[in-house]
Amino acid sequence: MIRYRKDTSLLPFNTFGIDVKADHLFHLRDRGELAEILAHPAFRIVSEDMSNMLILGQGSNILLTHDYSGVVIRNEIEGIRLLEENEDYVVLEAGAGVIWQDMVAYAVSRNLAGIENLTLIPGTVGAAPVQNIGAYGVEAAGVIVSVTGFHFATRGWLTLDNKECRFGYRDSIFKHELRNRMLITSVVLKLSKVLRPQLGYGGIREALAERNITHPSLMDISDAVARIRRAKLPDPATLGNAGSFFKNPVVGEKELETLQRSFPGIRYFRQDELYKIPAGWLIEQAGWKGHRHGDAGCYDRQALVLVNYGSATGEEILHLAEEIKRSVYERFGINIEAEVNII
Ligand code: FAD
Ligand code: EPU
Repeated sequence: MIRYRKDTSLLPFNTFGIDVKADHLFHLRDRGELAEILAHPAFRIVSEDMSNMLILGQGSNILLTHDYSGVVIRNEIEGIRLLEENEDYVVLEAGAGVIWQDMVAYAVSRNLAGIENLTLIPGTVGAAPVQNIGAYGVEAAGVIVSVTGFHFATRGWLTLDNKECRFGYRDSIFKHELRNRMLITSVVLKLSKVLRPQLGYGGIREALAERNITHPSLMDISDAVARIRRAKLPDPATLGNAGSFFKNPVVGEKELETLQRSFPGIRYFRQDELYKIPAGWLIEQAGWKGHRHGDAGCYDRQALVLVNYGSATGEEILHLAEEIKRSVYERFGINIEAEVNII
């Protein structure tokens, strides 16, 4: 029997802690249940363009701005299975509902390298390819072999290899052509038995040095990332948020030079031929860090994170985000784009 609820609150299912209702909510625990959902009378209201259907994982990258009049499918497909192993690597298939941090813990405890820098990112394995999660110099795209899911328009199963996923910085085909059109049910990952530490980003080296670690194990790296993250990012269990609200803008060399002339202190990080400007810095310079209006706020330890101090509505958070976006544009001429999915 599938788990289905009508007129139900989505409060337990989003990390911003927004209390809105959904007309219909299905919990999907294995692929076999999908046929039952498709045949359910409630599913008939889903329009052809799927615009009134929402696929949810842990709800850690969404902002719900109104009651959802449509169908929500929450992916809870479990299981990690070994597909291939040799002396250099393993290939694993994980159910889309596996909690990402459980996947990281599984890998780190077995000395499988590749996702240790992605420690403590909230959410599910199935959402990892959607925005190509990344942190501390590593992206999920680096280990994803393929992504499998159900394609609603053709009512068939689809597998995309890494290249077909068209991964970019916080981007993939699942945010464009396949947005809401494919329900990801499993992801295949290739993890290495050879440790190639990526320590050059965001203070990992310093965090290891603090503990006098010169030859870090996977567990040491994972612990260091966890410590850095806990110091900077709010825990959604105590303060509602969805991580970085905006993406870091990326500019070319000429644009950077122009910006540097007007703002000599501007921060940037080189990325191939381009430069990433930390949106957190732009927002802080624009005076928003620590700002609070009602229960909607800009986090005082990381300006890129918007927070819900209790009973902010999605609209109030969105309003604050729009004000921040406008003021960053007025001051720097840079358009910052939301990373969070606004529903
Ligand atoms: P949801 O929020 O439920 O969904 C996100 C999007 O993916 C939605 O559009 C949804 O429709 C779609 N989706 C979800 N599951 C599926 C599926 N099975 N099939 C098809 N579409 C699907 N992100 C980073 O990249 N790096 C970070 O360092 C990072 N740090 C964070 C820290 C905090 C404290 C928080 C709260 C969030 C952070 N995030 C970070 C954002 C978030 O963790 C990721 O985007 C995560 O992948 C979202 O997973 P989810 O299961 O919660 O997805
Ligand atoms: N900064 C400020 N003020 C702030 C925050 C940041 O000046 O309030 C500047 C500092 O110069 C700092 C720089 O911004 O050195 C970068 O800050 P941080 O290392 O905290 O990273 P970020 O660019 O703000 C990105 C990701 C995070 C990811 C971290 C670590 C995006 C949009 N965000 O944040 O991902 O965890 O790097 O790799 O790319 C997420 O996507 O939800 C997320 C949390």
